[in-house]
Amino acid sequence: MLDLLAPIAAAADLTIPAEHRLPIAVVGAGSIVDVAHLPAYRAAGLEVVGLHDLDERRAHEVAARHGVERVYGSLEELLADERVAVVDIAVAPQAQPPIASAALSAGKHLLCQKPFAPDIATGRKVVDLAASLGLKVAVNQQLRFDEGIAAARAMVRAGWIGEPTTMTFTVNIATDWSAWDWLVATERLEIVYHSIHYLDAIRSVLGDPVTVFCTGSRTPGQLAIGETRTMSTLIYPGDVRALVHSTHENRTGDHEAAFRIDGTEGAIKGTLGLLYDYPHGRPDTLQVSSRTLPTDGWLPYPVTTRWLPDAVAGPMGSLLAAIAGGGEPETSGSDNLGTLALLDALYRSMETGESQGLRPA
Ligand SMILES: NC(=O)c1ccc[n+]([C@@H]2O[C@H](COP(=O)([O-])OP(=O)(O)OC[C@H]3O[C@@H](n4cnc5c(N)ncnc54)[C@H](O)[C@@H]3O)[C@@H](O)[C@H]2O)c1
Repeated sequence: MLDLLAPIAAAADLTIPAEHRLPIAVVGAGSIVDVAHLPAYRAAGLEVVGLHDLDERRAHEVAARHGVERVYGSLEELLADERVAVVDIAVAPQAQPPIASAALSAGKHLLCQKPFAPDIATGRKVVDLAASLGLKVAVNQQLRFDEGIAAARAMVRAGWIGEPTTMTFTVNIATDWSAWDWLVATERLEIVYHSIHYLDAIRSVLGDPVTVFCTGSRTPGQLAIGETRTMSTLIYPGDVRALVHSTHENRTGDHEAAFRIDGTEGAIKGTLGLLYDYPHGRPDTLQVSSRTLPTDGWLPYPVTTRWLPDAVAGPMGSLLAAIAGGGEPETSGSDNLGTLALLDALYRSMETGESQGLRPA
């Protein structure tokens, strides 16, 4: 049995080969860079040459904390640094597209934040500009690379649960939005900033749905303007379905963040440890019950790493592999237009109260 788990573990491994590693500069020194990007890059053996943030005091503080030697006074200064091969953008989303275009024009490969762009047309422009310059763009949709999700996807691909029929995420947590004034003020919140991870992870296992239905709502007394509770149903050809139920106003402290994939020959179920104690978290759990192996009931899989910071090495590693070997990163800008198209359909459904078809990205 242990031998059977080895290829699953290999598929979830995020080691970045030394020959792929290139110098990185980071734009934005906010909380995600501090708690996830810089720790993940250091653990992966990557060199961060320098960083830039409009808030210079914050930039110096974060650089000092993580041993990053250089703080650039401007984006132009960062882009003029010839040592920098890859620019990792981690700013509030409206600021991202102009930074992405400037970095591509300076000849840098890109790792963009999710959401990749405010709309598909803007994302398409970044993808097309990169293609015309022969540069690679990846999007930091790192839940796909989280060990529990990646191992579950590998089990599905190995046929352990037969034909997958359903994938679900059930998340009931308390999110303190007050640390992000731009998130508190946004009209579209839960799907575009949080469930986007689950939706992208579902796409990595099941592909794109044909039709969706989504309802979003608020909880009396909540701080944020936008929706904090969403239920999204994804309808695929035949009998395949997916469901994301996510709420951020759990008032009782009994956090839950679970996922499950059912199939014709078994099922996989797990938890996202990060969301039980954000941002510290705990490792995911994962179990599989299979008639094809077979297992004797639920077999635990030993997950040893976390969504944050560990999975952040995934999109960067995939980008560096594409730069080194050709091809596209797994979460390429081009692929992410599909995630944006899914978001577009879900918000159309939320606003109309009716199911919506996906429009081609
Ligand atoms: N798991 C994840 O993938 C994950 C988690 C959290 C946040 N995010 C994303 O990361 C991005 C940043 O989130 P955060 O939590 O770090 O936000 P934050 O508000 O803590 O930090 C954003 C930083 O960007 C800086 N900034 C804004 N505009 C800039 C510009 N034009 N040039 C340089 N610096 C600029 C700000 O000064 C601030 O320090 C967002 O797009 C968010 O959606 C992703």
